[in-house]
Amino acid sequence: MTVRDTLSGDDRLVPSPAAMRRVLGHFCTGVAVITGHDGQQPHGFTCQSITSVSLEPPYISFCPAASSTSWPLIRNTGAVCVNVLANDQGSICTQFARSGTDKFSEIRWHRGHNGSPALDGALACIEADVEFEHAAGDHTIVVARVTALEAHAARDPLLFFRGGFGGFHSDAPAAKTP
Ligand SMILES: Cc1cc2nc3c(=O)[nH]c(=O)nc-3n(C[C@H](O)[C@H](O)[C@H](O)COP(=O)(O)O)c2cc1C
Repeated sequence: MTVRDTLSGDDRLVPSPAAMRRVLGHFCTGVAVITGHDGQQPHGFTCQSITSVSLEPPYISFCPAASSTSWPLIRNTGAVCVNVLANDQGSICTQFARSGTDKFSEIRWHRGHNGSPALDGALACIEADVEFEHAAGDHTIVVARVTALEAHAARDPLLFFRGGFGGFHSDAPAAKTP
């Protein structure tokens, strides 16, 4: 079955929220949990809208929904950790996608260099300071300056595609991080 076969005529013409979610779901991505710590407690939410923006200076971007209750609390701290999830962390992805719950229950984590929670077992951790925010419809585009990086060579990624999870195994040697 081709992709076109799965779309209704309306999906091809009208960028409704449902069509946006369904068609953009064909852009396979990794998944991360973005965390922050306000000095009293940790906060976090699952996020896939992460992009490398600039190498010099080192910027990343991500897009929290305007409805996110965790993002305002994390933004107030000024610093984040982007925890890129490994392929055995699907349950963590789901846990951090449930608003209004105790997201850190049973989660093993420690505070990173900037104080934000670094989740044990993550594929990579990217620490960054929030620099710019741009309103964009029902989401916000956040640009943050990277302050520390870490990746784990022996782990594979958790992937998100068409609303489901999958994996990918690479034989390529892992890049060294500073
Ligand atoms: C695979 C996946 C990707 C997601 N990507 C995003 C995202 O890019 N931005 C976002 O705001 N929410 C995203 N979500 C939804 C949030 O995780 C969810 O709405 C959030 O946990 C709300 O909790 P909060 O109210 O504590 O912020 C994603 C959820 C899943 C399962």
